[in-house]
Amino acid sequence: MIVLAHISDTHLDEGAQAHGRAEAMMRHLATMTGIDAVVHTGDVTDHGTLSEYAEAAKVLTGPYPVLHCPGNHDRRGPYREGLLGEDAEDGPIDRLHRVTGRDGTEALIAMCDSTVPGEPHGRLGDATLAWLDDALRGAPAGVPMLVGFHHPPLELGIPYVDGIRQVDAERLAEVVWSHANVAGILCGHAHTPAVMRFAGVPLAVAGGVVSTLRLPYEPDAEAIVDLAAPPVVSLHLLGGDAERGWSLITHHRAVTLP
Ligand SMILES: [Fe+2]
Ligand SMILES: [Fe+2]
Repeated sequence: MIVLAHISDTHLDEGAQAHGRAEAMMRHLATMTGIDAVVHTGDVTDHGTLSEYAEAAKVLTGPYPVLHCPGNHDRRGPYREGLLGEDAEDGPIDRLHRVTGRDGTEALIAMCDSTVPGEPHGRLGDATLAWLDDALRGAPAGVPMLVGFHHPPLELGIPYVDGIRQVDAERLAEVVWSHANVAGILCGHAHTPAVMRFAGVPLAVAGGVVSTLRLPYEPDAEAIVDLAAPPVVSLHLLGGDAERGWSLITHHRAVTLP
């Protein structure tokens, strides 16, 4: 079994609010045992500057590898330079990771770039979809893959975020349907945890570390953002096997702020 801590939307901006919340989350994760990796599904920084990525590189560390992808608030060039130590070029940031659980089981995690530079909504570009399709085809037999990106590919029933979701998602659905080794999809952007199905697999949206989106059913829904609600981490337990099917169990835990 693989255990992943899934966080999202730290929006680090060199200010105390975002910094303190991200730090509290990472400190909380460091106290947990049995986690194999942390997955961060984007909006790592708020403005995508080099100094914000320097802050992110310092804060988003701990006893586990931290796998991440950009969100609409990130910028590819500085993200590459400040967070990945690469040249600042503007192509999509797609990265494949291999994670090994304590019992020796393995999983692949494809972190994809769903950003459209300069736009709040998302779309997986042709190059990213082709890269994902290749990664799924080339995966070793019996090893499941989780696909991560920032923008949910479905409506969540929240008008504000539905208006800036991932568009043209039927192209992704086609890729997922054509490979039996996709065990689930992880995303962020909504700043509120949610679970649904997409193309026959579980899809989990992580809460926002920096803030929580109010649901239309809550008091003060028109205020949209709740800056006081505690950040939530999703713990995903990936198990099962290729014959009986993969299973993804998701637990949620609110993190107390200092
Ligand atoms: Fe965000
Ligand atoms: Fe976002």
